[in-house]
Amino acid sequence: MHFPYSRLRRWPDVEADNLQAHDATDLLLVERALSLGVDGREIAVIGDEYGAITLALTDAGVDGIHVHQDLATGRRALARNADDLNLSGFSSHELDATLLDGARLVLLQLPKALAELEEIADAVARWAAPDVVLVAGGRVKHMTIAQNEVLGRSFAQVQAQRAERKSRLIIASEPRPVPAGPPFPVAAQHDGLTLVAHGGAFAGAKLDIGTRVLLEVLGLDGSQLSMDASDRARIAPETGAPTDPCCAVNDGEPSPTPIVVDLGCGTGALAASYALVHPEARLIATDRSAAAVASARATVAANGVADRVTVMHDDAGSALADAGADVVLLNPPFHLGSSVHTGAATRLFEAAARILRPGGELFTVFNSSLGYRAELTRLVGVTEQLERTPKFTVTRSVRR
Ligand SMILES: C[S@@+](CC[C@H](N)C(=O)[O-])C[C@H]1O[C@@H](n2cnc3c(N)ncnc32)[C@H](O)[C@@H]1O
Repeated sequence: MHFPYSRLRRWPDVEADNLQAHDATDLLLVERALSLGVDGREIAVIGDEYGAITLALTDAGVDGIHVHQDLATGRRALARNADDLNLSGFSSHELDATLLDGARLVLLQLPKALAELEEIADAVARWAAPDVVLVAGGRVKHMTIAQNEVLGRSFAQVQAQRAERKSRLIIASEPRPVPAGPPFPVAAQHDGLTLVAHGGAFAGAKLDIGTRVLLEVLGLDGSQLSMDASDRARIAPETGAPTDPCCAVNDGEPSPTPIVVDLGCGTGALAASYALVHPEARLIATDRSAAAVASARATVAANGVADRVTVMHDDAGSALADAGADVVLLNPPFHLGSSVHTGAATRLFEAAARILRPGGELFTVFNSSLGYRAELTRLVGVTEQLERTPKFTVTRSVRR
C-alpha cells in the first residue's frame, strides 16, 4: 500500500517538526478496513484527525465513506488534503443518524475523554446496522481499561487486539439495546448558571476551576448570576440599537451595544454568564469543536440568553471581522493532543488581537506556570495581572 501519508498536512491546525498529520493507529485502522473488504458506502470513520484514514481508503478505491470530525481544523485539513491529492467520493457528517445509517464498519480514532467515547459508542449502537463492527484504535500509552468498559456498555463483544507499532485496536460488535434517549447532553446547575455538555466538551457540565477564577474576577460569578433580571438591568449601562455581531467593524470607539467574544467557548460558561449579567451586550461564542458548539447552543438556550448569543463552529474566530469586538474572554487550551504545546494558545492570542478594536480588552485566564503575560503584551498590547492564585493567573490586555 503506497498512500503518501507524509504529504498530509495538519494546516490550519498548529504545525511543528514534532507534530504529524497521521500516526500508526491510522495505518492499522486502514489496513484492518481493507482486509475486511466492506463496501465504502457501509463504512463510517469517526475522529479522523486530518483525513489520513478517509483519504488512504478513498485512494485505495473505497468509495462513499461517511466521515465525522469534531474539530473545524480537522475538517478544513481533510478538505485541503483531499484537494491536494485530488481525492473525492466521501461525505462529511455530524455525529448523527446520517453518519451511521446502514454502517456495517465503523473506524474510530479513540477520543481522549471517556464521556466522548460513551456518546460515540451509544450513537453507533443506536444508528448503525445491527451487524456493525466498531474498530477503535489508539496509541497504547494513552489507552486504559476504562475504554473497554465504556465500549462494553454499548456492545456485548469487546476484544482488545495485540499491540502493533505501539498502537492497539479494540473490536466491538453485537450492539446492545439502547435506552430511549441518548446519554448526552447532560446538564448541571452552578449558582444560577446552567451548563449543558456533550461528551466531547471541555470539563463536561462542570465549571472548570480556571473558568471560575475568571468569572469571579469579572464579577460574573454566582453572586451576580443569582440576582434577578430587574436588579441586573438596574446596574447595566444604557443599551443601544442591536448590531449584527458577526460583521460589525469598529473604528476604535466603544459601541453602545458592546460586542463580546467568548473565544474557545467550550460549553459556553463565559458567554452565558456574561450575557446574564450584561443584558446590553451581544455575544459571539465560538469554538473549533462541534461538541463544544452543540453544548454552548444548549447552554445559552437553557439560560434564556440564546437571542443575544450567536454560537459559531469555527477555527480561532476566523469568520469574525477584524477590529469588530469590544471584549474577548479567553480560557485557552494548553494541551495540544497529548503533547504539551503552547502553539494552540498563541493562535488564540493572535486571533484576539485581530478581532478586537483598538482599545478593546482581552481577559485571559491561564495556568500560572505558563507565564503568558509577555506574549500577550507582544501580540495584543499592554497586559496587567488582575489576579494570581497558586494555580491560575488572570490578565487584562488592552489592544494597541
Ligand atoms: C480550556 S477550554 C475553555 C472552554 C470555556 N471557554 C471555559 O472556560 O470553560 C479551551 C477551548 O478552546 C477551544 N479551542 C482550542 N483551539 C481552538 C481554536 N483554534 N479555535 C477555536 N476554539 C479552540 C477548545 O475546543 C476548548 O473548548
